[in-house]
Amino acid sequence: APASRYLIVSNRLPVTVSQKEGKIELKASAGGLATALSHVHGTEGSRWIGWPGETGQMDKSARAELDRRLNADGMIPVHLTTKQVERFYEGFCNGVLWPLFHYLLDKVRLDAWVDWQAYREANELFADAVARHYQPGDRIWVHDYHLMLLPALLRKRLPHASISFFLHIPFPASGVFRILPWRREILEGLLGCDLIGFHTHSYQRQFLSSLLRLLGLETQVDSVTYDGRMVRVGAFPISIDTEHFIKESSTPRVEEAAAKMREQNTECKILFGVDRLDYTKGMRRRVLAIERLLERSPGLAGKFRLIQVASPSRTKVEAYAQLRRSLDELVGRVNGRFSTVNWSPVQYLYQTMSLEDLMPLYRAADVMVVTPTRDGMNLVAKEFVACRNDNDGVLVLSEFTGAAWELGEAVLVNPYDIDGIARALQQAITMPEEERHFRMTRLRQRIQRWTVHDWVKSFDAAFAQVTSENERLR
Ligand code: G6P
Repeated sequence: APASRYLIVSNRLPVTVSQKEGKIELKASAGGLATALSHVHGTEGSRWIGWPGETGQMDKSARAELDRRLNADGMIPVHLTTKQVERFYEGFCNGVLWPLFHYLLDKVRLDAWVDWQAYREANELFADAVARHYQPGDRIWVHDYHLMLLPALLRKRLPHASISFFLHIPFPASGVFRILPWRREILEGLLGCDLIGFHTHSYQRQFLSSLLRLLGLETQVDSVTYDGRMVRVGAFPISIDTEHFIKESSTPRVEEAAAKMREQNTECKILFGVDRLDYTKGMRRRVLAIERLLERSPGLAGKFRLIQVASPSRTKVEAYAQLRRSLDELVGRVNGRFSTVNWSPVQYLYQTMSLEDLMPLYRAADVMVVTPTRDGMNLVAKEFVACRNDNDGVLVLSEFTGAAWELGEAVLVNPYDIDGIARALQQAITMPEEERHFRMTRLRQRIQRWTVHDWVKSFDAAFAQVTSENERLR
């Protein structure tokens, strides 16, 4: 029998729309989810249902043209009004759930109950869209914190459908999760699934302990019975298309661009960071660690610099706007303090960088700096490793990322410990060649053994199994 079709559902489609002088432009969406899932989409006539970005100001004909273009590529847009974007996406998803799940309690909005209603309505809107396109036999795969009520809403409408969910961000400790006034609704929403996936066992355990403590459910290590159905729970660490990165990072164009960058920096080690401009990414402490490093070792002045790319993200959410201002100021202060006529410690680029432009930097960097205070997985770390077919370069990686569970040969750091980051950077800058090779060789083996294709395959296999178990139970 032919493999059944996937209906992928995520808040953001893999492309985001913008309108320039009346013309519609589609750009690849940023972030781990869109990057990883593009590899699932496009197989077996699957469909991807999601938000194409802001279309509230678009006139009818422009929107119709947009819909046609998306449909032609197997995408089904869910349009949100300007108010819905404000309350659902900016307010609840990124003003409440995002900071809470990343343990940043002081960033959680106070007037969240206004936005909770919008969260419920938006999940209903997605449920309508899925139900409209659902055909018996389809497998529904819902993604991320924007849509945690959706599985139960779908279960009500389509009692026999195969429904799964994957969380792309951390699932917090139950003591933190229970802060959420709507903790029950969220847990019950997820329990509409046949299968719920997380990046790590630790997130999986934390979810299960929330089920026990908040709903009183008796759970097994990888399942819970709910409403007469089996709900499986598992860890499926997401990864990247390793082969693709290996190939694209060794083209003559990339090799030449990287070599040129190195020639221009023979006396100066390149530290590199690239993140969405997000307060979870630890960029302020990273810059403070650079300052600390120069205080500790004044002799290093001129011997290294940090190239930090920060891509604009969620710019209308106040906490993001604030971070932008404070990072601007901090970089200015540190550069002002240590720069010479020929050198500055931090080169800060506020812009979106294409993979094409990123590759030479991944290749030329001596040290990749990935120091989020929390991160569900972090694919930048894996991309960097995949690009280093010279088996060189040092990865400095926060122990609070999902990736740290897999990439043990990185230089692991506590991202809250500024002095500790400074020491780790010094260790990375001065690491002997032999040790660099040893570590990188092993890191590369790991990401070749577990790619995004393995992520999909393992999730798919678990999904097929629990679906047939539940069919037998009926
Ligand atoms: C993270 C989330 C994704 C999200 C991405 C970009 O990776 O897990 O769900 O799409 O950030 O954020 P945005 O708000 O622009 O969709």
